[in-house]
Amino acid sequence: MRILGIETSCDDTGIGIYDNKKGILANQLYSQIKTHIDYGGIVPELASRDHIRKVIPLIQAAFKEANLTSKDIDGIAYTAGPGLIGSLLVGASIGQALAFAWDLPAIPVNHMEGHLLAPMLEDNPPIFPFVALLVSGGHTQLISVTGMGQYKLLGESLDDAAGETFDKIAKLLGLEYPGGSMLAKIAKYGHTGRFIFPRPMIDSPELNFSFSGLKTSVAKTILSNPKDNQTRYDIALALEDAIVDILVIKCKRALEQTGFKYLVMGGGVSANNKLRDQLTIMMKNRNGKAFYARPEFCTDNGVIISYTGMLRFKCNINSNLIIYVRPRWPLMELPAM
Ligand code: KG4
Ligand code: ZN
Repeated sequence: MRILGIETSCDDTGIGIYDNKKGILANQLYSQIKTHIDYGGIVPELASRDHIRKVIPLIQAAFKEANLTSKDIDGIAYTAGPGLIGSLLVGASIGQALAFAWDLPAIPVNHMEGHLLAPMLEDNPPIFPFVALLVSGGHTQLISVTGMGQYKLLGESLDDAAGETFDKIAKLLGLEYPGGSMLAKIAKYGHTGRFIFPRPMIDSPELNFSFSGLKTSVAKTILSNPKDNQTRYDIALALEDAIVDILVIKCKRALEQTGFKYLVMGGGVSANNKLRDQLTIMMKNRNGKAFYARPEFCTDNGVIISYTGMLRFKCNINSNLIIYVRPRWPLMELPAM
C-alpha cells in the first residue's frame, strides 16, 4: 500500500509518499522561512498563499522522486488539524480534490499524531506502552500511549508552549525566525552559571507545565543587561537549560506515575540536541529507553503524514466531499485502533 501525505498546517509545505513494504519513497519540503523572516514570525495569510503556490509542484516532485504516478497510490492523507485554518484548508482542499479525481480514499490526519508516531519511522521503533512528550511550536503535552489512538492526557502547558518560549526569546535576542534552532546554536557558546532562570511548577506533583513566568523573567534579564554577544549566548544557554530541565523533570514524573519504561519525543523541539541527550541519560538511568526521530522528521514534513495516514487507513476515511479541517483537534478525540 502506498499513501501520499500532504502537510500544510503551518509554515512548511511537505509532501511524502510512504509504502508499507518499502518505507519512505518521497520526501519533498518547502520551508517558508524567506516569506516570514522580515516579520519575525509567521504571517498566517502569507503562509496560506505560499502553500497554494507550492503544494501542486511539490506533489509533482514527490511523484518524480518516487518514480510513480497517481495510479500507483492507494490513498491520500492530509493534515486536517491542528494548525492555522487558512494553511490547513489548502492541504485539505487539494487532498480531497485529488482523492475525488483519482477515486482514492481521503484520510484526514491529526498533525500531532504524526509527530507522536514519527519515531516509528526509525530503526528499532518504540513499543507500546510509552509516555509521549510532544513539544512543538503550539503544544507541550505529556501523553500516556497504550496503543494507536489510545491516548490519555497526563499534562500540558497552561500557557505558552516550549517551542513558543524558545521562539519569543530568540526574537528578543535579535535572532532570526525560526528562533528555536537558532537559539540552540548560539547557546553552545554560552557560559554556564552566569544566569539562572526559574523552573516554574517543577515542585508540584502534577504534570502540567507553565512557561510564561520563565519567559517574563528572561525578557526582563535581556532588557536589564548589555546587548553584547557573550551576554546573548549566556542568556540563550540559561534558557535552554531551564526548558530542558523542566521537560526532563516532568517526563521523569510521568514515567513514575504510569510505570512505563519507554519515552517517545515528538515535535520540533525534540530536534534539540540537549533535550535529546538529557532525556536519553535519564532513561538509561531508569533502565528504560528514549526514542526520537531524525531531526528532519521532528519538525513538520509530509512523510509523517503519509505514514500516519497509512496506519489510519482503515478507520479514518473521509468519504464525503466535505472539506474537513479542525484548527483545534485534541489527540484524545481520535478513535482507538
Ligand atoms: O513541530 P514543529 O516543526 O511545528 C509545529 O507543529 O509547531 O515545531 C516548531 C517548533 C518551533 O517553536 C521551533 O523553534 C522549535 O520547534 N524548534 C526547536 C529546535 N528546532 C525546532 N526548538 C529548540 N531547539 C531546536 N533545535
Ligand atoms: Zn508540527
